[in-house]
Amino acid sequence: MSDFFTTLRRRHSVRHYQPDMPVEAGKLHAILESALSAPSAGDLQAYQIGVIEDVDRRAALARIAGQDFIAEAPVCLVFCTDAERSALAFGERGRALYALQDATIAAAYAQLAAVAAELGSAWVGYFDGAEIARLLELPPTLNPVALLTLGYPAELPEPTTRRHLDEVVFRP
Ligand SMILES: Cc1cc2nc3c(=O)[nH]c(=O)nc-3n(C[C@H](O)[C@H](O)[C@H](O)COP(=O)(O)O)c2cc1C
Repeated sequence: MSDFFTTLRRRHSVRHYQPDMPVEAGKLHAILESALSAPSAGDLQAYQIGVIEDVDRRAALARIAGQDFIAEAPVCLVFCTDAERSALAFGERGRALYALQDATIAAAYAQLAAVAAELGSAWVGYFDGAEIARLLELPPTLNPVALLTLGYPAELPEPTTRRHLDEVVFRP
């Protein structure tokens, strides 16, 4: 196990996977538990997480997103907002903002947990949500907002650059 800051430094988007190396059930469980441990508005956890392991469905997700590597990864998590769950407590702010924040913080926790579990992952945001909802037969209350591919890497991605802190941080 690596310390937290090492985990942060080791996270890179992985877009090539070893398709014949499945993600162990224990690791997947730990990743999902980590997602759920994230903070959420009013502790409502206003999201659902689809676990897609079926090869045909992974291929369909890849096609919808136009990103072939999704099919290579043995697991794809589909983070969906449940906006009405948050709206019940927080009205329009819950519906429009908190549910999205809840779902995406959970996805970020899952992505870091994947590093700690020595797996690769990639966050995928470019897709047609309505098509994914149709494919997975989601109820109208659920809106897919992020995919997270998981698997054993078949590449060592180059670290990407970041903006300088001075450009991003402001102290008014
Ligand atoms: C909201 C969001 C949407 C993203 N969408 C995609 C995507 O559709 N396809 C993809 O390959 N990577 C996607 N990424 C991953 C980014 O490209 C990646 O995180 C960024 O280039 C930095 O590289 P790193 O993750 O290796 O640090 C997305 C990341 C985020 C947070």
